[in-house]
Amino acid sequence: MTILVTGATGNVGRQVVSRLVRAGRTVRAMTRRPQTGLLPHGVEVVQGDFERPDTWRAALDGAQSVYLFPFVYGAADNGFLDEAVKTGVTRFVVHSAAAAGFPPGTGGDGVLGRHLTEEREAHRGLELLVEATGAEWTHVRPGLLAVNALRWAHRIRTERVVREPYAGAGYPVVHEADVADVAVAALLTDDHIGAAQTVTGPAKVSQAEQVAAIGAAIGTQVRFEEIDPAEARTQWLRDGYDEETADWMIALLADAVDGTGALPPTDTCLRVTGRPPRTFAQWANDHAADFRPEVTR
Ligand SMILES: NC(=O)c1ccc[n+]([C@@H]2O[C@H](COP(=O)([O-])OP(=O)(O)OC[C@H]3O[C@@H](n4cnc5c(N)ncnc54)[C@H](OP(=O)(O)O)[C@@H]3O)[C@@H](O)[C@H]2O)c1
Repeated sequence: MTILVTGATGNVGRQVVSRLVRAGRTVRAMTRRPQTGLLPHGVEVVQGDFERPDTWRAALDGAQSVYLFPFVYGAADNGFLDEAVKTGVTRFVVHSAAAAGFPPGTGGDGVLGRHLTEEREAHRGLELLVEATGAEWTHVRPGLLAVNALRWAHRIRTERVVREPYAGAGYPVVHEADVADVAVAALLTDDHIGAAQTVTGPAKVSQAEQVAAIGAAIGTQVRFEEIDPAEARTQWLRDGYDEETADWMIALLADAVDGTGALPPTDTCLRVTGRPPRTFAQWANDHAADFRPEVTR
């Protein structure tokens, strides 16, 4: 039985691929650039692009299960799912997002609420399209990924300091490996058919705690310098973010200062895998090379 992994070069997809290979499964990895994907030995790599229907047949041929990267958003149904079912796919495991399960109104009616609504509609839209195919499905809904901390990598490597607003803002950020573990359980067992699994890390970790954990992982003190939200906004616009994005990023952090923001920790990882989710400290150790100054890029 062939399992097609889309988004196979992504943060979670790459880990799904390696776990399936270790489990001795026949894995086909889809990427737009097979020559640069650096996928593990033993994986069949196919060139596939959600925007190019002419590439789908080769990717789907003989596949019974698909790990579905959320590229085909609800309103933009492009026919990929129909094609998959026509060629024999009977199970989808959807890489979704925690926002898909947020009640309408989460985040209020300002910029944060608008952002979360957009995320909810996009991801829930895809989930509904998958459910409508009649195939078996599991929705894997990660909360904020720990890997977002890589946005600090350049400044930590070069200056050992992170300048952001709201040092105390934090979410129970989740290691991409835990998301992959849950996804693989849904691909390889029948225990999660028809379930939506919201996956988080074990506990809220503030921005300052994340920076300290990265410092500990690389054996160097890294400073968190709290700056004014307006200064951060100016910096992010200079870094290339658009105004709406800079505004919701600030609102998201402000919302998470005194608690867990929109998403408290879940017990999904423990329930599905039998062990607690990895901590942020573990994530920082796994990614230490990304933050060490001696890495030449
Ligand atoms: N960041 C978070 O905290 C978070 C939390 C929950 C959910 N999410 C969701 O998770 C997703 C992850 O996004 P990301 O940007 O971080 O992903 P990513 O891990 O950087 O991976 C992007 C993947 O998408 C593939 N891809 C992009 N365009 C494609 C196309 N036209 N056809 C086929 N494959 C294509 C890429 O493959 P190639 O380049 O190899 O073709 C790559 O494997 C988003 O939808 C986001 O909403 C994110």
